[in-house]
Amino acid sequence: MLRTNQGYGAGDIALKIVQLRRLYLIVLFRARPLFERLPLPHWLKWRFSRKRFQPFNYTLNDRYPWLFTYARDHLPPDSRLLSFGCSTGEEIVSLKRYLPTATVRGIDVDPRNTKKAHLHTSSLHQVEIAHAKDASAEPANSYDAVFCLAVLCNGYLTANKCRVSEPFCQFSEFELAIADFTRCLKPGGLLFLLTTNFRFCDTASAKEFDTVFAAQESNLAPDLIYDANNKLIEGERYLDAVFRKRVT
Ligand SMILES: C[S@@+](CC[C@H](N)C(=O)[O-])C[C@H]1O[C@@H](n2cnc3c(N)ncnc32)[C@H](O)[C@@H]1O
Repeated sequence: MLRTNQGYGAGDIALKIVQLRRLYLIVLFRARPLFERLPLPHWLKWRFSRKRFQPFNYTLNDRYPWLFTYARDHLPPDSRLLSFGCSTGEEIVSLKRYLPTATVRGIDVDPRNTKKAHLHTSSLHQVEIAHAKDASAEPANSYDAVFCLAVLCNGYLTANKCRVSEPFCQFSEFELAIADFTRCLKPGGLLFLLTTNFRFCDTASAKEFDTVFAAQESNLAPDLIYDANNKLIEGERYLDAVFRKRVT
């Protein structure tokens, strides 16, 4: 093996870098409550919000054709849709392709994404984009469907094979996000939830829904699943993906 003068090999140095990066991330995420309280400028503060889930912006046009086809076949054409965590707008463009007369509101925690999403969707009608870290400002019973795809997860957990989801993600924050979606969905409305680090069935809101559609194993990303105590559920794959809010 290649050795430096100090006796360290290239492999040892790479390992140290990985360990230091992991330590840096853990300290950064643990310090979020402190950063949240500091009088930081708005353009910086969102980064440290405990409500911020997936830090990666990766998205694609027509990323989930099987799910969008289900949406087209089960929603009224003039539906009002929420794309939560819309990233740079490709999800909105895709939804408009499947449901051209729907109204789509996209929200994202990262203001750089919402800026790009504005540009990306500028030629489309009935599209709104907003910068927000949750759906708490959305009116109650106002959406026919909420799409929350690859948002309520954190790629660091899978990359680092973490045994517990804290400090990167917490079940309590997941449950709050789901409660917000439940409130702003119309009775009979659909919740599309995919690639999460927690199971919808573990939330208190789940009892207000029926599961109406499940993914195939091959549709799932490799993200790890954690229980309501933030502990890894070894080998778990959660297929349920679309839930209908009961009409009471
Ligand atoms: C991997 S992208 C997914 C984009 C798109 N939904 C898709 O599936 O292709 C995750 C997005 O969620 C956003 N996000 C993370 N936490 C959020 C939060 N609390 N509120 C709104 N957006 C959030 C990120 O900024 C990022 O743009």
